[in-house]
Amino acid sequence: MDIDVLTLFPEMIGPVVGASMLGRAAKNGILSVNVVNIRDFTQNKHRKTDDTPFGGGAGMVMSAQPVFDALRSVNAEQKRILYMSPRGRKLDRQLISDLSAEQKLVFLCGHYEGIDERIIDYWQPEEVSIGDYILTGGELAAMVVIDAVARLIPSVLGNAASHEEESVYSGLIEYPQYTKPRVYEGMEVPEVLLSGNHRQIHLWKFEKSCEITKERRPDLWQAFLKEERELDKEEKKILQKFRD
Ligand code: ADE
Repeated sequence: MDIDVLTLFPEMIGPVVGASMLGRAAKNGILSVNVVNIRDFTQNKHRKTDDTPFGGGAGMVMSAQPVFDALRSVNAEQKRILYMSPRGRKLDRQLISDLSAEQKLVFLCGHYEGIDERIIDYWQPEEVSIGDYILTGGELAAMVVIDAVARLIPSVLGNAASHEEESVYSGLIEYPQYTKPRVYEGMEVPEVLLSGNHRQIHLWKFEKSCEITKERRPDLWQAFLKEERELDKEEKKILQKFRD
């Protein structure tokens, strides 16, 4: 997947996409992130990228020209463009999964009080919000999306089984996890996880996921119950326990 990130703060992006799983994906040629500094496209001698809003009001607005030219420089006409903005569509699993099927994506990160509306009118980006709060800019939001999308690209996660397992429980919050040692400061790992009985272990995990989801995220739980899932007899029994 080829990703262009258009930003006024290119130094924010590199360290994040160079680290951890994203870094590995980049090294393996699965993911390529091209960071574009919008300031490089200014045509004024002070390299100014913003100006005061027409009609007055607080703050500054990002000017159309450098953003237009930065978008043209990455051939954004032919790519899916995402504009990170608190007024956008709320990010969710569906959008992430949808984006992970794309070959090319462009992220436009705004700053200040907003960007000249003609950028939106002309380029028709999809506006995406990562939540109902205001960040100082779209960079962190873009990195959230890139991270979540990248791990859905086959072979990025490394361990294919992790995906499979996630899909069984997808829509549910994850069950508790433990690693060595078996006893830490007197606290023991649940016995079933040490049993080697894969069926019992699976059922335990499923039950825990149901329990935690129902308790903490009733919205996700209701959605999960509505989905027509292919569950076996014992899984159905567990589900039944948590139905009201
Ligand atoms: N830019 C500023 N706040 C944002 C948010 N919540 N989501 C996406 N982009 C943003």
